[in-house]
Amino acid sequence: MLRRMQTFRWFDPVDSDKHFWHRYSGFYRDQLSRLGAVRRVVEFGVLGGASIRWLRALYPAAEIIGIDRAAPEPGWPRDGGIRYLTADQADEAALVGALDAAGPPFDLLIEDGSHLPAHQARCLVLGLPRLRPGGLYLAEDLHTALPSHPLASPAPGALHLLLAIERARALGRLLDPAERAALTAPGGFGPAELAALEARIATVTLHRRAELPLACWSCGGTAFDPVRLRCACGAGSGQEGADSLTAAARAV
Ligand SMILES: C[S@@+](CC[C@H](N)C(=O)[O-])C[C@H]1O[C@@H](n2cnc3c(N)ncnc32)[C@H](O)[C@@H]1O
Repeated sequence: MLRRMQTFRWFDPVDSDKHFWHRYSGFYRDQLSRLGAVRRVVEFGVLGGASIRWLRALYPAAEIIGIDRAAPEPGWPRDGGIRYLTADQADEAALVGALDAAGPPFDLLIEDGSHLPAHQARCLVLGLPRLRPGGLYLAEDLHTALPSHPLASPAPGALHLLLAIERARALGRLLDPAERAALTAPGGFGPAELAALEARIATVTLHRRAELPLACWSCGGTAFDPVRLRCACGAGSGQEGADSLTAAARAV
């Protein structure tokens, strides 16, 4: 469907909701253009394998490791440089085991798994320090931590930490005591985890979709009414609530 629309470029992960729903492609194109050599990539969340295919097209010689709680499926892309590891983001020991088995340091780590804020936080704590200097961590779908989202939690999560670090960097300072206290509140980051992340994060850039989706997550159709801001099937466009917020954290 999208292929017929001729709206994609070689870069775009056309069959992934990264492209047709969230419209992260342009932001990712810009972020990845400054990444340098890419030899090892990890992505949490494989689903049908669309983004693994995209990563292979982008980085033909890289080792690509997909981590998912689901066992590998026959339709997932395979070649000599693609591996799949099974781990649930709710299981910290399994997460550490999978990240170590993936073989850090990583050039690029994409977190597109459960989208639960608690899982996003643990993946950031465990994943970002395993990047090489200059490596990139893409934390997808952080809108789930916004107050209006049904998955939001009062505990400090990846979105909160990345927002605080971005703001501190923009102000030319470190996190202040009030920010540290907020981020280390119950259910949030340990003081040592926060210090380690602050020390390893050089820059944070956030991106939120303002445009309409290219295709509907629900029916796959492309008939979005630009006035009602809905798909012809009735599904919303994401304009009505928290949606499509991603962040890129570059490692020191
Ligand atoms: C949004 S999809 C990934 C989409 C894919 N990255 C793409 O762009 O085409 C989310 C994936 O996360 C996996 N997932 C959901 N909860 C998980 C968890 N607790 N631990 C690990 N993986 C999980 C699901 O099995 C699913 O494959």
